Amino acid sequence: MTSVFLLAVALLAQDTTQGKAVYQKWCAGCHGDTGAGDGEAAHYMLPRPRDFTGAIYQIRSTASGELPTDADLMRAIDDGLPGTAMPGWKDRLSAGDRRNLVAYLKTFSTFFADTSFRPQPIAFGSAPGGGGGDEALRTGRLFYDSIGCRKCHGDRGRGDGPSSPTLKDDAGLPVFAADLSEGWRFNGGASAEDIYHRLRTGLDGTPMPSFSDLLDQQFLTDEQLWRVAQYVRSLSPDAPEVRDVIRAPRIAGALPRAPDDSAWNDVDRYWFPLVGQIIVKNRWFNPAVSGVWVQVAHNGDSLALRVVWNDRSQSPDTAWLAHGGRVLSSLALDEGSAPAPQPWPDQLAVQFPLTIPSGMERPYFLMGDRTAPVYQWRWSSASPAAAVAGQARGLDRFDPAAAGGAGAQSVYDAGQWRVVFTRALATPDSASQLQFQTGRAIPVAFFAWDGSNAETGTRMAVSTWYFLALDEPVPARVFISPVLAMTLVLVVGLLMVRRAQRASGRQP
Ligand code: HEC
Ligand code: HEC
Repeated sequence: MTSVFLLAVALLAQDTTQGKAVYQKWCAGCHGDTGAGDGEAAHYMLPRPRDFTGAIYQIRSTASGELPTDADLMRAIDDGLPGTAMPGWKDRLSAGDRRNLVAYLKTFSTFFADTSFRPQPIAFGSAPGGGGGDEALRTGRLFYDSIGCRKCHGDRGRGDGPSSPTLKDDAGLPVFAADLSEGWRFNGGASAEDIYHRLRTGLDGTPMPSFSDLLDQQFLTDEQLWRVAQYVRSLSPDAPEVRDVIRAPRIAGALPRAPDDSAWNDVDRYWFPLVGQIIVKNRWFNPAVSGVWVQVAHNGDSLALRVVWNDRSQSPDTAWLAHGGRVLSSLALDEGSAPAPQPWPDQLAVQFPLTIPSGMERPYFLMGDRTAPVYQWRWSSASPAAAVAGQARGLDRFDPAAAGGAGAQSVYDAGQWRVVFTRALATPDSASQLQFQTGRAIPVAFFAWDGSNAETGTRMAVSTWYFLALDEPVPARVFISPVLAMTLVLVVGLLMVRRAQRASGRQP
């Protein structure tokens, strides 16, 4: 009896000792040596790394306010928390290491000390049938409005509800209401089941509440709460695949210059992720714009490039000034002390090289340099919203082009900007503006600033270089001739075989 007990203690001790070694190597840089969420890197990020001493966890199967199960902790370690700095470790650490980590994390808080207490998962049940149907989604939408999701997450779920500029986590740090149209960034997973679980448990430590008590009060039924989860699931596409080349179809006649022209429905769209600019000072670790959707069409004379991205506010918007101030004062900044927030506009830049390169070399992606400039279209929401074309030679030098720059039309609608840039393929001032050509791989990159999130200057979101390819004119003949050519080859081949066979006297 005693020996079994001693053995159990030995195993436990071994767990946490090995867990500690793994923790110090891989986790302490963010979560801190004492687990207080204050590692060296912590002050550069929002949300902050979890403070394990408080034992407050977001991704649980247990009720709001309760401790997570070991399986919950394991899941967070395995998969990470998408949409945050917390990476997944399944492919990097062995199962044994990850189990030891779970044991070690629990030593940071006395709440786990009573090992006779086992946190109990909620009995979730499974989804009712008819999940994707219109009726189910209508019911989900009804309760999305009536139980208050819209107040934080907004009419279209883009995280732009009226309460969103005021949201803070339990530590008083600013936090965004999740953008429900980007489900692949949900901390706890994007499936309707994951979403339903989050609605039952809440994300403890954040303003995202649990809705289990509404079930207890019979304000709505379990089926209706599932409908809310299914409605939320319907707001997001699957995680978009990132492709390298934007294919721009050649269309006949006028280009769609208005952002909501129905012609855009027929043009393929491409997703490009953006990340914080952390290369040159002043760096930015907290970008609000996670990516842009891009579509391009041309008609042989001009091209139209549509960029769609989600942004919780139409900046400048004074309702968000306090949020900007909270963001600046909670992050470690290269400037040292936090600058005062200002009503900065939203901005977007599309970047090309000044000339189409023949090989793979391209200007420096971060707005070129003194010797190799880039050609850019810079759009700003400052009224009147407009774009300028010009050349950048590094982050600190921009020379607007004379005339004939890019035109831009924009729409802000329920947490989303839609901007269409247009320009003639060829311009008279070919020395200062890119001359577009069909059938070439034209490097292109994107930059975005959310003014309400204190983004201005080098505090911005950036992409790497991608390519734009404008379809060449396609004469009808091109479609027929490969088929003709194939047929000819076949016929000629057959004739030659026949002849050879005849010559050798083996005629069938
Ligand atoms: C690059 C920084 C970084 C590193 C390295 C890191 N984490 Fe995290 N971790 C975070 C952040 C940020 C959060 C909080 C995200 C949030 O609040 O949405 C977090 C949250 C967590 C959570 C809380 C999950 C929940 O449900 O609330 C656990 C558990 C965790 N990390 C474990 C680990 C372990 C174990 C390691 C090492 C193997 C590790 N982390 C390494 C940044 C990091
Ligand atoms: C008081 C504001 C508030 C209300 C009301 C609210 N949420 Fe949230 N919600 C948040 C915040 C803030 C987050 C982000 C928390 C984080 O990531 O740290 C969030 C996150 C989420 C997430 C992402 C979960 C994940 O795994 O990352 C979903 C889905 C969600 N909410 C759905 C809903 C639905 C559906 C409702 C209504 C039933 C609702 N929320 C009500 C503030 C709110």
